[in-house]
Amino acid sequence: MRLILIGPMASGKSTVGRRLAKRLKLEFIDIDEEIEKKAGVSISWIFDVEGEKKFRERENKELVKSLKNDNCVISTGGGIIVEDKNIDSIKKGTVIFLETSIQTQLERTLNDKKRPLLQGTDNKEETLKELKEIRDPLYRKCADITIKEGKNGHNEVVDKIVDILKLK
Ligand code: S3P
Repeated sequence: MRLILIGPMASGKSTVGRRLAKRLKLEFIDIDEEIEKKAGVSISWIFDVEGEKKFRERENKELVKSLKNDNCVISTGGGIIVEDKNIDSIKKGTVIFLETSIQTQLERTLNDKKRPLLQGTDNKEETLKELKEIRDPLYRKCADITIKEGKNGHNEVVDKIVDILKLK
C-alpha cells in the first residue's frame, strides 16, 4: 500500500503522515525532509539561493525516488501539484487530500519562519487565498480521497483516513 498526502501549507500532511504510518506499520517518507537531507540545507535556503525552479527539480527527484517504496506513507509539500509530471507520479499511490481552511492555515503559520512563500509577503491571507484558488482544483483533480479538517486536530484526521480505507 502506498498512501500519498497532498494539501496546502499547514494542512498537517507531515504530522498526519507520520502518525498514519505508525498506525498502519508503514514506512514514512516526508518529501520536504528528504530534500533538506539531500541538500544539507533548509528549504528557505534553497528558495533564497537557488530559487523556486531549482527547488521544484529537487522536489520532483525526491518524489520519484520515494515512489520506489511500497508500503509507505508519503507526505508532500503544498506545491507538489504545480508540476504536471508530479501529478502523473502521485497517481502511483492512493492520493489523500487534506482540505484545510485559510483560517486554520493562518492560525498554524502565525509564527512560521520556515515557509519561503509566506515570508516574502506582507499579506499572508491574500497569498494563501491566491494559492488556494490555483491549487485547490489541482488537489481535487488528483485526490482519490478528500478529508476535511475536523475540530479535534490531527488524530481525528488519521482516524478518518483509517476508517475510509477500512483498515481498522
Ligand atoms: C511549498 C510548501 C512547503 C514546501 C515549500 C513550498 C508550497 O511544504 O514544500 O516551502 O509551494 O506550497 P508544506 O506544504 O509542508 O508547508
